[in-house]
Amino acid sequence: MKILIATEKPFAKTAVDGIRKIVENAGYELCLLEKYTDTSQLLSAVADADALIVRSDKVTKQVVDAAAKLKIIVRAGAGFDNLDLAACSQKNIVAMNTPGQNSNAVAELVLGLMVFMSRNKFNAGTGVELKGKKLGIHAYGNVGRLVACIAKGFDMQICAFDPFIKKEIIQADGVIAVDNIEELYSNCDYVSLHIPANEQTKKSINRKLLNLMPKGGCLINTARKEIIDEDDLLKLLEERADIKYATDVAPSNILELQQKFDTRVFATPKKIGAETAEANINAGLAAANQIVNFFKHGDTTFQVNR
Ligand code: 3PG
Repeated sequence: MKILIATEKPFAKTAVDGIRKIVENAGYELCLLEKYTDTSQLLSAVADADALIVRSDKVTKQVVDAAAKLKIIVRAGAGFDNLDLAACSQKNIVAMNTPGQNSNAVAELVLGLMVFMSRNKFNAGTGVELKGKKLGIHAYGNVGRLVACIAKGFDMQICAFDPFIKKEIIQADGVIAVDNIEELYSNCDYVSLHIPANEQTKKSINRKLLNLMPKGGCLINTARKEIIDEDDLLKLLEERADIKYATDVAPSNILELQQKFDTRVFATPKKIGAETAEANINAGLAAANQIVNFFKHGDTTFQVNR
């Protein structure tokens, strides 16, 4: 049985060592394709793989079709918008993610970006404090919940909007569960995005919504670039000299935004939300264990293409 790790952005070595141990203890073989630069390399590497572990790597229909023996793909991470689920289902390939495993790394980055933007991107000049400000969490999943938990340490007032989670669950964490999305954006000095990228959410963060933010509002996006209406964001930054935007998932028009609004816009040079040793180890080892449990016991917990 051949388990392939295909990562354009490799896991930390400690994570790969841990994955290897799990795979080899189960009697399987581990193969590595790291930092590949062309899809053709992925297409040939998957040809004889029984299982595949990826991060944000695009697993298209072409990749799935090239993998004649593939039975399971695990996206070591939360978002699975990089997997063609229909193509997987068509070939009876089980697709999974590893929810929660890298959430803390992303949540810590959110607070880091908030401090960075509030202190003029660490340049001289008077900044503002997070204490007492309102933070809006747009979607209260694994990352959103941890952002709330850390933000409490900053003594922020925290609101959240998530139509898929019962208000009582949000309120049990000492977080105000607002009734609608407009209320979240109108009331909060900072809004942190934690929605997935799918047909319902793409471009859903638009000018109408962002324009509701109070004076000095700061939007933090560690989720996906596709959820932002990029033309609207540009227009809003032009119209409102008080609005700030910090992101770990740079929009396509980042150069233009940086040129025009350097003091108010920040994007990490590469997506680094889950780039910690701990997150790599948690997500990588979970992926390996899920594959072994699938082959040994038929366990399909965390399957996302049912
Ligand atoms: C996720 O969805 O888990 C995060 O966006 C991390 O993605 P990455 O594995 O590409 O760093």
